[in-house]
This record gives sequence, C-alpha cells and structure tokens, in this order.
Amino acid sequence: MKILVTGGAGFIGSAFVRLTAPVHSIVNLDKLTYAGNLDNLKSIEGHPNYTFAKADICDAAAVEAVFAEHKPEAVVHFAAESHVDRSILSPEPVVATNFMGSFQMLEAAKRHGVSRYVHVSTDEVYGSNDEPHDADESWPLIASSPYSSSKAGSDLLALSYYKTYKMPVVVTRASNNYGPYQFPEKLIPLMISNALDDQPLPIYGDGQQVRDWLYVDDHCRAILSVLEKGREGEVYNVGGSRALANLDVVHRILEITGKPESLMVRVKDRPGHDRRYAITSEKIEKETGWKARMDFEVGLKATVDWYVANREWVSRVKSGAYRDYYSQNYGAR
Ligand code: NAD
Ligand code: DAU
Repeated sequence: MKILVTGGAGFIGSAFVRLTAPVHSIVNLDKLTYAGNLDNLKSIEGHPNYTFAKADICDAAAVEAVFAEHKPEAVVHFAAESHVDRSILSPEPVVATNFMGSFQMLEAAKRHGVSRYVHVSTDEVYGSNDEPHDADESWPLIASSPYSSSKAGSDLLALSYYKTYKMPVVVTRASNNYGPYQFPEKLIPLMISNALDDQPLPIYGDGQQVRDWLYVDDHCRAILSVLEKGREGEVYNVGGSRALANLDVVHRILEITGKPESLMVRVKDRPGHDRRYAITSEKIEKETGWKARMDFEVGLKATVDWYVANREWVSRVKSGAYRDYYSQNYGAR
C-alpha cells in the first residue's frame, strides 16, 4: 500500500515510518519544524520504499502537489504542533497547523479519493477525567488547552468528512507516548536529559497529575491495526493501561539514572492543567486484536538507555532555539 504520512520526521511519525517502510511504500510529508528531525529516519534513508517531501500542511498548493505526484492510497495524519506548554505560550501556530492544516489535508484527500484516512488524535480531547471510570469513545470532548482544543476541532472535522462526504476516515485517540527520539520538551525525555546533565527537574504543581503511559511502538502498531482493520467513521482509543502520577514517573527516572531526589524542584503549575487522563482501549482490542505489549518498567529503562547512548542527538536538538523556549517556559516559574 502507498501511504502518505504527515509529520513523519517527528517522534511518533518517525517510529511509524521506521515500522512500516519495510512493508509499505511511504511518502513522508513534513515541514521540519523544531520538532521534525531527519536524523530520526537515518535507518531508512535511501530505502526504495521511502520518499521525503518537505511541505507545510497549511499550504494547500504544496499539499496538492504532493498528492498529485505520489497518488497515495492511504493517509496517516500525524503532523501537529504537539506540545501543550508551547500552545499556551504561543497558540497561533498551533491552531493554524492542528486545525487549518488538518483541513487542507482532508480536502486534498477528498479530491484524490484515498481509500483510507487515519487522523491521529489524542486522549486530551476528553479533558480531565475526574470520574471513577475510564473514558470510552462516546465521552464528550471537553478539551482544556489551545493544543487539545485544536486537536478536538480537527478530530471532529475529520469525522465530519466521513459523515458528510463518506470519506473513509478513522480517528485514533492515544494516551501519553514515551520512547526513543522524543523531543526533550515532554515530561519523560526532559526529566531523563536533565537528570543526565545534573540539571533541575521541574515538577508542575503538586506532581500528582495522572497520565496513562503508552510505548511509542505500541501506538504505531495500533495505528497500523486501524489502518488495516478499523471501521470507517469510527474512533478508537489507544491506551497503555499504565496510569501513574508524574512524581512516580520522575522517581523511577531518578532510580534508573542513579541521580539524587534533590534534583526535583516544585515549580508553578501549568495554567488549565488537566489533573488526570484515563481511557479504555476495549474497542480497539476487541475489533482489531491490538494490545499494548510493552511493560512500563522495561520501556522506561530502554528509553533511558537510548538517551544515554544518544547524547549527541540530544545535544543537537537542544539548540539555541530550544534554550530560548526553555527560558520562556521555565524562567518565569
Ligand atoms: P512531534 O511534535 O514530535 O512531531 C510533529 C511533527 O509534525 C514534526 O515532524 C513536525 O516537523 C511536523 N509538523 C508540524 N507542523 C507541521 C506543518 N504545518 N506541516 C507539516 N509538518 C508539520 O509530535 P508527536 O509527539 O510525534 O505527535 C504526533 C501526533 O500524535 C500529533 O498529532 C499529536 O497530537 C498526536 N499524539 C501525540 C501523543 C504524544 O504523547 N506525543 C499522544 C497522542 C497523540
Ligand atoms: O495525552 C496525550 C498527550 O500527551 C498528547 O496529545 C500530547 O501531544 C503530549 O504532549 C502529551 O501531553 P501532556 O501535557 O500530558 O504531556 P507533557 O509531557 O507535556 O506533560 C506530562 C505531565 O507532566 C503533565 O501533567 C505536565 C507535567 N510536566 C511536564 C513538563 C514538561 C511537569 O510536571 N514538568 C514539566 O517540565
């Protein structure tokens, strides 16, 4: 199958490209923002199944040119501004890419009549889950941040293309991913890279917020399973079934890296901070046979080992622009 992947140079997109390029023909459309890094794809560079197209999903003409040249049969749409804190500091590019960029992708896919369109969404669209039970796919969308609201908007827009135009859309809503190649702005890679550098580990608020951790390769297998077996017009939650408070995650990282607890510092909380995410993945498990395989302790140790072995990758991405963001987000806390 010829698959157009957007955002394939980012954290999850590159894992998906590495997983699928040996068996499918992949066209990777990416703008290469600060989060896009072709180093993540070194292992498949030059592979006959793989092509890279540098383009912005907000640029309708550029998107049309990629569709016209490559004629994909399916689309997996990952490209997004994915970081909540950046969306709070600077919402405009987030709304533009996540909503309008997703719109341009849907329009092009409709014109070209693709046979499957997977829109990669997030469990954050459900907002904070303060109920005693986990959210299934019928829960209302009550997003909190500019990031999650723009994802909720594009998630609904994608579903509207199924309802209105009968486009073969499937939506996935995954929980917090972790693993190799994650940009060190998200909790796990930031805490690992700061701990390895003996730098402070900034804990927002009381550190008791709960996230459900999903190993990135498990997420990519889930996307592949709905690409192949998901029903058109349906939403599939993808969770790791491993809910942990942030402080528990950071304690485990300190244990693995052998660094002292004194590195942890309490800082001002994130505005509008969601307290707890909790979803059930029963539907995808029942319909496609997918199941998260990675044990969190094993996955976290493998992730720390990867960051230890790839200090150069980390120092390259922690460029001048990263330092500007870091002082903007953490300097005032
Ligand atoms: P990321 O920030 O690591 O990568 C995003 C990629 O999109 C980068 O390669 C970037 O260059 C590209 N991109 C950004 N704007 C673009 C534009 N205008 N045009 C073309 N390319 C553009 O993100 P990620 O963590 O890999 O997340 C991928 C997708 O998965 C996103 O849609 C995100 O909302 C969703 N998701 C992420 C998580 C998570 O825990 N990281 C969980 C659930 C869902
Ligand atoms: O739930 C899926 C979502 O998970 C994805 O849609 C997003 O793209 C992804 O960024 C992630 O969002 P979160 O806001 O949950 O992830 P983040 O890693 O930014 O933060 C995880 C938790 O850790 C959250 O409660 C905030 C806290 N945190 C984060 C950072 C960066 C800290 O305490 N300190 C920090 O420095």
